[in-house]
Amino acid sequence: MSDSDSELVESLLAKPDVHRQWSSGYRTADNESFFERAFDYVVGVLDPPAGATFLDVGCGSCAHSVRLARRGFHVRAVDFSESALGMAAEHLKAQGLEDRITLGRETLMGLSFPDESFDYALCWGVLMHVPDVGRAVAELSRVLKPGGRLVVSEGNMSSLEAAGMRRLKRALGREKAEVKETPAGVEYWKEREGGALVTRQANVGWLVGQFESHGVALTHRVAGQFSEAYTMVSAPALKRLVHGFNDFWFRRVRSPGLAFGNLLFFEKRK
Ligand SMILES: C[S@@+](CC[C@H](N)C(=O)[O-])C[C@H]1O[C@@H](n2cnc3c(N)ncnc32)[C@H](O)[C@@H]1O
Repeated sequence: MSDSDSELVESLLAKPDVHRQWSSGYRTADNESFFERAFDYVVGVLDPPAGATFLDVGCGSCAHSVRLARRGFHVRAVDFSESALGMAAEHLKAQGLEDRITLGRETLMGLSFPDESFDYALCWGVLMHVPDVGRAVAELSRVLKPGGRLVVSEGNMSSLEAAGMRRLKRALGREKAEVKETPAGVEYWKEREGGALVTRQANVGWLVGQFESHGVALTHRVAGQFSEAYTMVSAPALKRLVHGFNDFWFRRVRSPGLAFGNLLFFEKRK
């Protein structure tokens, strides 16, 4: 990982294309019920007082900021991409939630907030796209207040889906991305016009250790979506099957080890 890797990713994410692809892949009607359930769970675990403020770092189009605002919280929603912030602004206007969510441009490589600014923070599906994830962890840890809570959602490199697809693609010679095995996890690098995108399947133990070294301890780890295979199949019946299984796993099992999506709850030591 070098500074130029970070620049290549920032340059690609400054453009709207990848954000539009993410919106069409993940912000689907089928996914809504899962995310609503997941946010009921997140809020249930954190149990913040009414009106508490969350920092949502890497907010994208603000889909999750909106979920928090609808549950009665204020959100400081930040992203380093003007394209993402443009989509977020439209979304907030359409939802009439501009009074509860404040948008701003920030990078995880150096947040402008003073130390110990936030009681609650969310970083959902973001660290996986950050080349210098160690620095991002340091920044997230810095802006949390002692006793502050952080929720991170990442893909798990040891999940059935990640390990199975890795082996299958290797065996079939079908891997199109450049694959790098790093202490932080397995990184898939794709060069595109005007930049590059990294998507890391996290080594969850390593990530937890990084937070721990900044005095931020894991309190709770559960499965998010067991599989994201719904993004790889086109038949509606197959998509429904994956969503049904994800729903079952999240409601009844929630064990994270084999699941692709992992929700990590942290607390900063006092
Ligand atoms: C996959 S999207 C997730 C968006 C949102 N959290 C969600 O789950 O819907 C990742 C977001 O992180 C943002 N991002 C990536 N690296 C970042 C960085 N270093 N600082 C701030 N935002 C970043 C991207 O611009 C993008 O909007």
